[in-house]
Amino acid sequence: MKLLVVGSGGREHALALKLKENPKVEEIFVAPGNGGMEATCIPVDIKATDIQGMVDFAKKAKIDFAVIAPDDPLVMGMADAFEEAGIPHFGPSKKAAIIEGSKAFSKELMKKYNIPTAAYETFTDEEAAKAYLLERNQYPAVIKADGLALGKGVVIAQNEEEALEAVHSMMSEKIFGDSGNTVVIEEFLTGPEVSVLSFTDGKTLVPMVSSKDHKRALDNDQGLNTGGMGTIAPNPYYTEEIAKICMEQIFLPTMRAMNAEGRTFKGCLYFGLMITPGGPKVIEYNCRFGDPETQVVLPLLKTDLLTIMEAVYEERLSEVPVEFEDGCSACVILASGGYPKKYTTGYPIGGLDPLGQKEGVTIYHAGTRYEDGKFVTSGGRVLGVTAKGKTLEEALQKSYAAAKEITFTDVHFRKDIGVIR
Ligand code: AMP
Ligand code: GLY
Repeated sequence: MKLLVVGSGGREHALALKLKENPKVEEIFVAPGNGGMEATCIPVDIKATDIQGMVDFAKKAKIDFAVIAPDDPLVMGMADAFEEAGIPHFGPSKKAAIIEGSKAFSKELMKKYNIPTAAYETFTDEEAAKAYLLERNQYPAVIKADGLALGKGVVIAQNEEEALEAVHSMMSEKIFGDSGNTVVIEEFLTGPEVSVLSFTDGKTLVPMVSSKDHKRALDNDQGLNTGGMGTIAPNPYYTEEIAKICMEQIFLPTMRAMNAEGRTFKGCLYFGLMITPGGPKVIEYNCRFGDPETQVVLPLLKTDLLTIMEAVYEERLSEVPVEFEDGCSACVILASGGYPKKYTTGYPIGGLDPLGQKEGVTIYHAGTRYEDGKFVTSGGRVLGVTAKGKTLEEALQKSYAAAKEITFTDVHFRKDIGVIR
């Protein structure tokens, strides 16, 4: 079979390597891919958001199955375009991807179907939003841009000044473009965060092993929010009891709510949860695999990934027993110094073998290029170093031992991935 993976990050590298384990898979094309994926995949120079270009390529290359990994092509309707072209694929339709594409939509869905989440109000008028904040006078206040914003569209305002400024920058200055035309102001929740990715075909929903992302740039959860600086799986806070509550009160009700709205979700539905003193609540939904959650979840998946994805597409997920290993995994992200703000790229990377790997761990490339026989940095998050172990400590120890041997100018990584506070 010939597969196509759309996207270019560590998540896409993890998806491609896992898909490659199936002996039926002859070739995997990645569009646009990255330097590290070239070792096992064929890069195609098409932007992940170029829907027409992607479908034209898939037809010409006779792709048997396409996996759409990033949020923006999904929200723009790439899955629908593959469907029209008769190309089997993994990833929700535009109508279903709105669950991530619009926070106003997802909050309304949860309210309507009684799915636990933070209390909220939605605003399309800046003055009304500000008046609400002044009248409510409760801090911290959580202010979210409605649309996609590279994971940066959330402000936790500690006081009135910060809150008014956040609303102004989203709605007037348009720092997130049209994503800030509507804002959601919600209650501030507390408690540990858990990511649960799930496979669903709209009839069956199978949660994957839970995970924990470390979103802030610096140790002790200091610094700016990033795309994610490291992950562990399973998440120690996600007990069996909480998993049961989530399945009954959140996961299945969400799947059914989307069906009832005529927006059946087929693909990977991601639940960003907070375990509050009042029980688990939804912080956000994503319409795709998380990054870097995928880099710890897929290594523990025992069942063949392509088999699961084909079953989701054909709406017979109930026939596939999805199994995970009992062990743990950890992923440490090596980032360019300065990320998520300004950083320099083009530095040679030392400590990798000719395939961009390292013994004892799996290196998922994110921001790398392959140039004149060597790997060089090309993005903010550069590499994800994943290791597995019987225990979390063992996985972390292996991952950090390898991470420390990889070198490039101004490399930055957190030293406290997996530390539970
Ligand atoms: P999001 O982009 O929606 O995942 O939000 C980014 C981060 O902001 C989350 O990982 C949480 O740490 C935090 N956050 C979002 N919503 C809330 C909330 N209602 N209460 C407290 N923290 C929140
Ligand atoms: N790691 C968070 C996300 O993928 O949205």
